Amino acid sequence: MITPIRAELTVTDNVPFGQPVSTPEGERRFYALTLERPEWRSWQPGQFIMLRPLSCEESVWARPMSICRVTSQSLVLFIRVIGPGTDRFSRLKSGDKVIAWGPLGTGFEMRPGTPTLLLARGVGIAPFAGYADMHPDTSSLAMLFGHALPSSSYPIDAMAARMEVESLHDRTPEELEEFHRVMRLRMEEYKERDGICLACGPMPFLKKVWKVANELDLPTQLLLEERMACGTGACLGCSTITSKHWPDPVKAGLPVQTCTSGPVFWARELDLEASIPARRS
Ligand code: FES
Repeated sequence: MITPIRAELTVTDNVPFGQPVSTPEGERRFYALTLERPEWRSWQPGQFIMLRPLSCEESVWARPMSICRVTSQSLVLFIRVIGPGTDRFSRLKSGDKVIAWGPLGTGFEMRPGTPTLLLARGVGIAPFAGYADMHPDTSSLAMLFGHALPSSSYPIDAMAARMEVESLHDRTPEELEEFHRVMRLRMEEYKERDGICLACGPMPFLKKVWKVANELDLPTQLLLEERMACGTGACLGCSTITSKHWPDPVKAGLPVQTCTSGPVFWARELDLEASIPARRS
């Protein structure tokens, strides 16, 4: 168990990643936000922090942010600007202060020597940068990465230098279909090799991975952080339903909170097709 700490940290860099891209949903922008390294004893890729800017006029709620990588000097976050909250983070500059609470949640399994397939779509690539940094045997890693925007929008080059990366566009329905076809093929290969699979990305993608993993009985972990908001178990906005394989039989088939029980889960322990009961007001 890694004990989270609250730390006031200084922003050391905040740089746009790639060019802003216009999409039917609006402009997409990515930033690599670098903070001074908190005094963490350890952390695991897949974990997150709650981050809040200090000294800004607007009141800004703390937001959950997936940890991209941690170096001897820095904590790096990869941010996709999708609204006013994330836009505020994109405007942080060197010398600004933030409050970070973490590391929080569960991290990805790391089994040196075991063939490990990383599946990522879009901004879901972020935690795998740190995973590749920390893994003692990157020759056992390979990543399949689906992305709608140009690959220069993502931190892919540094990862491709450390392991095999297969990168496919998935913008059109035809490209997405091809991505899913290749994804299934790779998962079948890793099942044959007694490997494991780790996945991060938007929920429709994770549901596909979950379905194939259960069909193949391939040990697979999913990072569900896309649904989180408060990050503390209070808003109940991140519920997911457990399956009959949940370790505590009393909680099998019931909602659990992604932020306090995850965000990384074994696919077989969840039922992503179950509907979440409506909350009583
Ligand atoms: S993010 Fe609010 S309860 Fe999990």
